[in-house]
Amino acid sequence: MVTTEEQRTVLVTGANRGVGLEFVTQYAAMGWTVIAGCRDNKKAQELSDLAASNSKIAVETLDVTNARHVGALAGKYADTAIDVVINNAGQYGDLDRQSWGSLDPVLFHEIMDVNVLGPMKVCEAFTPHLCRGQDKKIVSITSFLGSIASVSKPPSTPFYAASKAALNMAIRGIGKRLENQGIAVIVFMPGLVETRMLRQTFGLPLEEAETAENFDYRDLPTITATQSVSGMIPLIDGLSLETSGRFLNYDGNEIPW
Ligand SMILES: NC(=O)c1ccc[n+]([C@@H]2O[C@H](COP(=O)([O-])OP(=O)(O)OC[C@H]3O[C@@H](n4cnc5c(N)ncnc54)[C@H](OP(=O)(O)O)[C@@H]3O)[C@@H](O)[C@H]2O)c1
Repeated sequence: MVTTEEQRTVLVTGANRGVGLEFVTQYAAMGWTVIAGCRDNKKAQELSDLAASNSKIAVETLDVTNARHVGALAGKYADTAIDVVINNAGQYGDLDRQSWGSLDPVLFHEIMDVNVLGPMKVCEAFTPHLCRGQDKKIVSITSFLGSIASVSKPPSTPFYAASKAALNMAIRGIGKRLENQGIAVIVFMPGLVETRMLRQTFGLPLEEAETAENFDYRDLPTITATQSVSGMIPLIDGLSLETSGRFLNYDGNEIPW
């Protein structure tokens, strides 16, 4: 059975801010049902306001590192067909705690948990839902810093870079595992997007990086979350088993692994 846009469903992780919130906004505007996962409802005012004005957005508690959350959400939607799963949630981590000479193992495990194991567990838990969906697509938001072929200098955030390279490999593997079930995968560099995470790259603590107002991104070629997601959605639409397993920039340009 062919479903219309209005009958499609997308699951977005890390949906309460930045790129994730923009995916929710744009898919909801297209008439999709959106399962918007966020780990702390108290930090989700904008998302809650959006959901209050659109009954097709369901805000759900989802810390991707919490196996109980992942399992409970998969159980709650056990009878739902999900067309697209978007692994967007991610953490950059303190620069100081991953600088050479003071590598902090606790932070390493936290970042790997959120950026690698979390998406893998989400893919595993929601495979049955994707099999029931029409589109059958897994989208994962990685980073240019995860491109091994592009390393030209030591990264200032080696944990984050390693986690995104690991995510790329994990998703390539999952793509191979699930291709016979008709599921296609893609990893995206979303661009240098004006979000809390990009502000963190300037060395700001998380709380300070929350504030976007009048932030000076210096000479970085930044884009807005709207531009980023507007670029990715048509590419997700065009994703098929034939084009599965690619690493693309938000504008469609191929990024070397
Ligand atoms: N912005 C960029 O320039 C850029 C560049 C390359 C790649 N990326 C990638 O783009 C994705 C989105 O990042 P962003 O720029 O939108 O950053 P952001 O504004 O910092 O948003 C990150 C999101 O991930 C969520 N998150 C963190 N840990 C989580 C967990 N354990 N479980 C569930 N959600 C969790 C955050 O929730 P809380 O609000 O609860 O913390 C937040 O919703 C990330 O994967 C990031 O690595 C961004």
